[in-house]
Amino acid sequence: MRAGFKLRPAKVGDIATLAKIERDVSPFPWNEKQFAESLQNHRSYMLCKGNRPVGFIIFHQVLDEAELLNIAVKSSFQGEGLGACLLDFFLAEVSASAVTLFLEVRVSNFPAIALYEGRGFHPVGERKAYYHSESGREDALIMRCDLPLH
Ligand SMILES: CC(C)(COP(=O)(O)OP(=O)(O)OC[C@H]1O[C@@H](n2cnc3c(N)ncnc32)[C@H](O)[C@@H]1OP(=O)(O)O)[C@@H](O)C(=O)NCCC(=O)NCCS
Repeated sequence: MRAGFKLRPAKVGDIATLAKIERDVSPFPWNEKQFAESLQNHRSYMLCKGNRPVGFIIFHQVLDEAELLNIAVKSSFQGEGLGACLLDFFLAEVSASAVTLFLEVRVSNFPAIALYEGRGFHPVGERKAYYHSESGREDALIMRCDLPLH
């Protein structure tokens, strides 16, 4: 992790902050209930500068398959390599026990797609009209990363 930044498990008291960061960066953000469910069922980490939350990552793993569910960096902290740090953390956390990683992303989300491609994800399919969008519905790109067998 970059100097001055740390990652810690997110907790129930972080739900409002997670939703606030999400509203800052996403046109159709997860709500507090979705974050609360993720805290119960998935692995959720808060990225902090000092004690100030500036991003998060949420993922889960079932057997040897892991899925990235959400990742965000506050807009004022984007473009500094923090998104890549978050993704590297996910890869490091699951690499000992997972062999296949998946994620879904809006087809128009070029910054995120570039981030994922830079870390070994490649497109393997689409879900038509999967997301709400400004113009109605938008497709999801399904991306996959195969980790080396251990
Ligand atoms: C996706 C996101 C997490 C990236 O975070 P970030 O801290 O800005 O990313 P980084 O600075 O670590 O950049 C890592 C890579 O992402 C890509 N990237 C980041 N911003 C980009 C942009 N504006 N345009 C194109 N590529 C971009 C690049 O490949 C970059 O690598 P490089 O610096 O070697 O070129 C951030 O843009 C974000 O929070 N977006 C809104 C939430 C979101 O869309 N989440 C994904 C849901 S599936």
